[in-house]
Amino acid sequence: MKNIQPIGIFDSGVGGISVMSHIQCLLPNESLAYLADSLNAPYGIKSNEFITERSKAAINFLIKEQSAKLIVMACNTATASSINNLRQVFQVPIIGMEPAIKPATQATICKKVGVLATNGTLGSTKFSALLESYSGNIDFYTQPCPGLVELIEEGNINSSSTKNLIQKYLNPLIERKVDTVVLGCTHYIFIRKLIENIMGSKVKIIDTGLAVAKQVKHELDRFSLQNKLNNKNHLIFTNSENLKMETIIRSLITNPNFEYSYQGHWK
Ligand code: DGL
Repeated sequence: MKNIQPIGIFDSGVGGISVMSHIQCLLPNESLAYLADSLNAPYGIKSNEFITERSKAAINFLIKEQSAKLIVMACNTATASSINNLRQVFQVPIIGMEPAIKPATQATICKKVGVLATNGTLGSTKFSALLESYSGNIDFYTQPCPGLVELIEEGNINSSSTKNLIQKYLNPLIERKVDTVVLGCTHYIFIRKLIENIMGSKVKIIDTGLAVAKQVKHELDRFSLQNKLNNKNHLIFTNSENLKMETIIRSLITNPNFEYSYQGHWK
């Protein structure tokens, strides 16, 4: 394994770009190869078998064609359904992500926490086990958000349909008077401002992007795989048929100095 090889990152679509941005910020020397399986989004309503097959195809591409030295599954849903299986198949280290339940237990004062995630994540045995281990004296209110990923994939970050939909999903959490909300899907990070505005400044909103980036750094250190040279090259691949996808992706990357090449032809 060579240090100059890229970190491979994938998601069902554009959601994982929120995680990629944290990785790029923390590890500015690393080359990144990002893959958005947008043609098959959302994963949240698909079977475990389907998600495992898609994840295998994504990882295969990142390892075989992009020579990824480490894989980040920037997708809570794919991690919940397939990471254990995929770690048996591939030799390269695979880092996944899961809703930030532990940090939420430390943040909540009133002991009421809301968790926004896909149906797939919330219904998984991995998530049930996670919740079980931290429940104790804390009440968790889980809220699936069908339809939200599709809107975000279309670049609707601020539209009235997105506002109305997230308001509908947050209403039950407002009624329960939660003081902490976990963003358990990487797509939702792009509407964090909307969520903050609806919940108000007293409610803490928690996501896992930075923690995952720190874990990536830790793994690279552990295997002495950090790139010390300044020869990075970032690539973003997608199989989306949306002609506006390049513009949508550009609008989601807030760092103006992040230069990358857009490859809209992955199959
Ligand atoms: N962004 C993904 C997640 O973190 C998946 C969303 C979806 O495709 O349903 O769960």
